[in-house]
Amino acid sequence: MQSTKDILNQFTTKLHNSKTLSELEKLRLDYLGRNGKVNTLLKDIKSIKVDDRKNFGESINKIKDEIELAIGEKLVKLSSREDRDTSFDITRPGKEYPHGSLHLATLAIDEISKIFEKIGFIRMSYPEVEWEYFSFDSLNMPPDHPARDDFETFFIEAKPHNKYGKMVLTPHTSSGQPREMKRLGNPPIRMINIAKTYRPNWDASHTPMFHQFEGLCVDKKINITHLKGTISYFAKEFFGEGREIRLRPFHFQFTEPSFEVDVTCGVCNGKGYVPKVILANEVRPESRSWTSSPRLSYGEAGQDDERIKCKLCKSGWLELGGSGMVHPSVLKAGGIDPDEYTGWAFGFGVERVFMMKEGLNLDDLRVVYSGDIRFLEQF
Ligand code: PHE
Repeated sequence: MQSTKDILNQFTTKLHNSKTLSELEKLRLDYLGRNGKVNTLLKDIKSIKVDDRKNFGESINKIKDEIELAIGEKLVKLSSREDRDTSFDITRPGKEYPHGSLHLATLAIDEISKIFEKIGFIRMSYPEVEWEYFSFDSLNMPPDHPARDDFETFFIEAKPHNKYGKMVLTPHTSSGQPREMKRLGNPPIRMINIAKTYRPNWDASHTPMFHQFEGLCVDKKINITHLKGTISYFAKEFFGEGREIRLRPFHFQFTEPSFEVDVTCGVCNGKGYVPKVILANEVRPESRSWTSSPRLSYGEAGQDDERIKCKLCKSGWLELGGSGMVHPSVLKAGGIDPDEYTGWAFGFGVERVFMMKEGLNLDDLRVVYSGDIRFLEQF
């Protein structure tokens, strides 16, 4: 039988050699566990003379206490050291946490909303999932009208509405026009509807989901000059003071007359060509610093043979989107008397105008929704 003193000496050496928490735990079990050394000693008590048992028992309890205490102290020491070793080293460089940023569509939407807010337009966001009636019929596009094909709409497998027809993914924000007229009841109406729109196209210049913003203004005596003035205001706020717009005759079912809207190109200042010297020395087509680079005066451009066609626009103008005077039957569908009121509307693509503003000549628009952080963190 080992003496209690031997056991304690042995323990002290082993405790000294225990360098980790798991070694310490093993030691604790060796000595204080159910089949550990201390308990084994206790079992020997029967072989001790009855008179000596009391002393023996006391000495065992004593070393048990000592062992427990020593293990406890060492536990505290090792724990704080291991903590320090694994989680905090003041000599290590700190961790730099990545900073998130807003998606470029969100940035563009915020900016567009603010621009229209300043002139009293109410920001709306009409449904992504729509009825055919609001997307087409109320906009003067009957079921058999060929113009309806243009939109290549996503139809949803759901029970059709008895009044509003099939369920669709909103193909354009124009459905916000009759909805807003119905919501307000009475003009004046000044709405900017910014929402997700869907068309089943997937190529370098189309994603099946994109955003549009729709302006609508209805009141007494509203005419084309108001439309032109408002879009011009937007173009100058969004793209820069020097930008001009033009209306080009076009056709939409829900406006009459209808126009496509163009804005002067920011690279060539609406000229359609750039002097050779700029192309060679200042304009790097892949760079987004285009719009902020100093512009030459084109009066100084010299002879025609020193000019090069602008790579971005080719003609001096970039297409913004569609617009026109709200068709009387759309006003009627919205519950507004076309003899008393007139209105204008326009619908532009959010991602599209953002790209034009940044001078990004993206060869594949799909990167905007690819989730590629290397692209997105540039905005
Ligand atoms: N909704 C049309 C489109 O998506 C744009 C438009 C809006 C045209 C408002 C005229 C008036 O192409």
